[in-house]
Amino acid sequence: MVYASQRILSGQVLIPGAHFMDHRSATVSAAANIALIKYWGKTSDANGHSSPANLPATGSVSLGMEDLRTTTTLSFAEGASDTFESSLDEAAQQRIVRFLDRLRERFDCRDHFHINTQNNFPTGTGLASSASGFAALTLAFNALLKLDLNETLLSQLARSGSGSAARSIFGGYVEVVLSDDAHAQQIIPAESWPLDIVVAVTNSAAKAIGSTQAMQRTAQTSPYYEQWLSSHSDDMQSAKNAISAKDFDRLAEVSEHNCLKMHATIMTAQPPVLYWLPATLAVMHEVTAMRAAGIPAFYSIDAGAQVKIICEPTATDTLLARLKDLAGVTNLIQTRVGGSPQVHLT
Ligand code: PMV
Repeated sequence: MVYASQRILSGQVLIPGAHFMDHRSATVSAAANIALIKYWGKTSDANGHSSPANLPATGSVSLGMEDLRTTTTLSFAEGASDTFESSLDEAAQQRIVRFLDRLRERFDCRDHFHINTQNNFPTGTGLASSASGFAALTLAFNALLKLDLNETLLSQLARSGSGSAARSIFGGYVEVVLSDDAHAQQIIPAESWPLDIVVAVTNSAAKAIGSTQAMQRTAQTSPYYEQWLSSHSDDMQSAKNAISAKDFDRLAEVSEHNCLKMHATIMTAQPPVLYWLPATLAVMHEVTAMRAAGIPAFYSIDAGAQVKIICEPTATDTLLARLKDLAGVTNLIQTRVGGSPQVHLT
């Protein structure tokens, strides 16, 4: 049985008698998301201490990517430690165990788990695998232990694993609201404004520097970090207004501006963090030229070399045709705004 997580999360069990079943495993599919207005920086980065609750220094606005997903099955394990079935490396597995330790402590759980987790897209390359991964794990923990947590708390818990994961608890257009326990909420569902997304993969190798380390370095050494923070809420407001009005051009302008501002800030850290490759720039120029010619498409880039292009569905074929032969573009992944998680108990 597969049903939309939002209905499970609210504690309304949909399947008659389902709550009487003794489930042994929970499988969750959660989607990666693209930040249009970026979260970059944690509250305590500037003084050199990492934030224990992983609190973002900026809000953010994102789109769920319907077909880029992590599928995680969490089952009760017999032994006294967590076990894995995954291509994740040892460091990534340890990060998951530490996250589960915090959940176990908070919810007074003594169980250990077998974790089968797979991504259907390249991992650790700036395509938000930590967002879909920690959202899937949080939702699976909630479902398996029948905690019936609400979406706000699920989002806060996912955020403690990875800031961007707060948003992958929801599908569609999502924002992170800042507070001393920041969480995400949906702005509008995907169906309200159906846009397409094309991911231009330019490098499938794992990035050289992860976002946590790069954020800390940026906060401590970039001369532009303070301006990044102080100009951020205007970008948030502008993007949210554009989404509410379904104003494509306005969303395009503010999203590209915020993306370039984040990358300018991180490039000017010492030592610099430069995620772009020549093909990243080639795609950016191509998309800029297309929009100048009246084709509704814009780009965004997270912590990696891949470029995500958001477009009106009428522009998708033209976009694919123009990007497919660009030097250095190794793969084009076509999807759309969506990404509601799905939960399946067995
Ligand atoms: O969630 P993290 O720690 O992987 O950081 C995400 C950073 C960006 O993807 C660049 C921006 C964002 O808001 O997702």
